[in-house]
Amino acid sequence: MNFTILIVDDEKNIREGLGHSLEMDGYQIELAEDGKTGWNLINEREIDLVIADLKMPGMSGGELLKKVSSAYPTIPVIILTGHGTIESAVEAMRNGAFDFVTKPVNLDRLSLLVKRALSNRELVLQHRNLQEEVDRLKRQRSSGRIIGKSQQMQKILQMVEQVAPTKASVLITGESGVGKELVADALHELSNRKEKPYIKVHCAALAESLLESELFGHEKGAFTGAVALKRGRFELAHRGTIFLDEIGEINQQVQVKILRVLQDKKFERVGGEKTQEVDVRIISATNRDLKEEIEKGGFREDLFYRLNVVNIHVPPLRERKEDIPLLVSEFLKEFSEENQKEIAGINPKARLALHNYHWPGNIRELRNCIESAVVMAKGKIITYEDLPPNVASGSDADYIKLDVGSSLEDAEREIIRATLHHENGNKSRTAEILGIGRKTLHRKIQEYQLER
Ligand SMILES: Nc1ncnc2c1ncn2[C@@H]1O[C@H](COP(=O)(O)OP(=O)(O)OP(=O)(O)O)[C@@H](O)[C@H]1O
Ligand SMILES: [Mg+2]
Repeated sequence: MNFTILIVDDEKNIREGLGHSLEMDGYQIELAEDGKTGWNLINEREIDLVIADLKMPGMSGGELLKKVSSAYPTIPVIILTGHGTIESAVEAMRNGAFDFVTKPVNLDRLSLLVKRALSNRELVLQHRNLQEEVDRLKRQRSSGRIIGKSQQMQKILQMVEQVAPTKASVLITGESGVGKELVADALHELSNRKEKPYIKVHCAALAESLLESELFGHEKGAFTGAVALKRGRFELAHRGTIFLDEIGEINQQVQVKILRVLQDKKFERVGGEKTQEVDVRIISATNRDLKEEIEKGGFREDLFYRLNVVNIHVPPLRERKEDIPLLVSEFLKEFSEENQKEIAGINPKARLALHNYHWPGNIRELRNCIESAVVMAKGKIITYEDLPPNVASGSDADYIKLDVGSSLEDAEREIIRATLHHENGNKSRTAEILGIGRKTLHRKIQEYQLER
């Protein structure tokens, strides 16, 4: 990237000296002899960094700093001060200066600062671009809260928009934390039932004995403790949508009753004779393999087909890593607001770690990880050290990436290297995990020069 640095100083020698030195570092240079001229240049040209003397006739560096910080908050400003004016330097920092350098200027230090400020600016801009992309995607799609630009997610969003207005039962499948509930919410939101009730039932959270009366209600005196008539969730969802989360957890008796609602829209309250009729759209979700449950006899096949008129499968995060940067950017925004911290970006090493990690807990885990990183962050940029330890170390240890076209030899070396690393160099454990003898392992370590 080609950066342009504006140097504002009323002393010609300093202005040109610094300009020359930074030009040698490969930057484009603009010079101005006072704040006003500098400010005009900032408005006219593309300036990436400002170095300004604090004391100048006319508009001072301090005033210029204030203007830049409020109008162009992503442009870093480095302040130059004379000896003995530390107080004003401190004030400059308070007003948003990136850093300050005392005169006579140590060119090495300045060069280092400039480098740091510019890489900081790049991260900030990167983060801003991502946020703009998230906003654009949100505006394009009516299913607003679901973020994702991967092909898989685009397909899911398209499907959601297509089936939402119908009454078809939808079964949402996918690992824990992939966003099944968000998909269910969107299906209701985008349907013509959206003004009507949306009732969620977390089937696994309710005791088996309670689930039936929760779903279908009970008559007064149906069982001990049933002191009054209670309407069930199906009744409450009349004309709206019911979301049965963790549908794989329900028992046979309840399965039969749900099947009847699906087929005839009819049911009875627990302990009741009178048949109730409801008009309810059923959306269900599970992270279990229901086909397998059917084979084992735990789940009714006829119910499965009724629930699964449309199947939406949400793939795990590790299969759609293109979505990670957008999600990270969204969660950074959410949690910096919540924690009242100004997090402006994430550094390349941390970004890479997030990319390499295999996310067994999917988006929920990513969200928690970013929340924790925001809380831990000491500066405005999330670093590798701010990430939870399991994510940071898991990113390079638990996961091997091989390009198609690698040789078996490459694969063997990678597996040995990664396992050794994961076991902190413990060779007995490594040999055991890999299922080879210690001697063989030794030989291979030497062969592949894996000894560090
Ligand atoms: N595409 C996405 N965009 C933004 N946030 C998402 C996305 N997918 C999931 N999330 C967030 O991740 C968290 C987990 O999502 P959700 O509860 O929908 O997962 P789930 O598949 O229902 O998980 P479980 O099977 O454990 O119930 C939520 O905080 C949700 O808001
Ligand atoms: Mg869920």
